Amino acid sequence: MTRTVPMNLGQVMEGKVVLITGADSGIGKETALGLARMGASLVLVCRDRKKAETAKEEIAKAAGNASIELLLADLLVQREVRRVAGEFNATHPRLDVLVNNAGAGFMSYGETEDGIERTMAVNYFAPFLLTNLLLETLKNSAPSRVVNVASSEHSSGHLDLENINKDSRMGTVGSGAYARSKLALVLFTHELARRLQGTGVTANCLNPGAVRTKIWNNSGALTPLFRFFSLFMASAEKGAQTSIYLASSPEVKGVSGEYFDKKIPKRSSEASYDETMARRLWDLSERMTGLVAARL
Ligand SMILES: NC(=O)c1ccc[n+]([C@@H]2O[C@H](COP(=O)([O-])OP(=O)(O)OC[C@H]3O[C@@H](n4cnc5c(N)ncnc54)[C@H](OP(=O)(O)O)[C@@H]3O)[C@@H](O)[C@H]2O)c1
Repeated sequence: MTRTVPMNLGQVMEGKVVLITGADSGIGKETALGLARMGASLVLVCRDRKKAETAKEEIAKAAGNASIELLLADLLVQREVRRVAGEFNATHPRLDVLVNNAGAGFMSYGETEDGIERTMAVNYFAPFLLTNLLLETLKNSAPSRVVNVASSEHSSGHLDLENINKDSRMGTVGSGAYARSKLALVLFTHELARRLQGTGVTANCLNPGAVRTKIWNNSGALTPLFRFFSLFMASAEKGAQTSIYLASSPEVKGVSGEYFDKKIPKRSSEASYDETMARRLWDLSERMTGLVAARL
């Protein structure tokens, strides 16, 4: 992010508090930059202090906006998600936009201390838990927005609620786990939007497209191939545009429960509209994250 930047894009986010996870690189960092240029007050949730501080400095300088705060957490671990949500709620009376952007894809099987497969833990359970823990603050700040960064890969996902860590069709790790985690995130977005009707809080998700970021550097034996293909992918700046749009545009005020691609609402996979599955996934997720059932 070394380019010089046109300042002051209308300051349409002046006075708005935006929390973005995974904001020290790739799409999240560009989302933060775009919203900082619009005057938002940012809270960046990152796991590596050094990288986070570098990103904060670069964004502040490039956007001419020093209202950027860091919170550190490894979102793989639920106690870290709880801690960071507690830190935010203790110091911020309002939250206008939550962008659940952090994501990863693990090529080998491993479970977190919560007993959850790692790709599912970062890409689905962390956003589920964080969003629920910040929900009262979002409701108190309405109109407010939740933006979940999903993927077109959700279409090939398959969820087995009897064993959320495994998928007999697609395999346990790699693209199988990634697709499953993103399907869960889209189901969650649809269910969240239904539960939030009438509260003034909207929930939407998006596909950023194929974007040249470091996420492709962790593809096991296929890494050199993906690195090569990533040369032809969109820049992170371009990949962040739909996140920025959903976080800030008056055009999507009141729009909820949608899946966006290139700023346009599109139909997500058939499986993602299964309301019974979405409710069962919600109940299971509440149990697996220790949330009380009657939160909404
Ligand atoms: N790039 C694509 O083509 C593409 C396509 C569809 C969807 N997406 C989605 O876009 C989102 C952003 O990904 P990206 O492409 O910008 O990749 P990226 O550059 O690797 O960024 C991912 C971000 O998530 C953070 N993160 C990962 N695991 C974390 C953890 N355990 N705790 C806290 N933060 C964690 C990373 O932190 P570190 O810097 O510390 O690793 C990084 O800031 C992800 O949800 C991804 O699934 C990307």
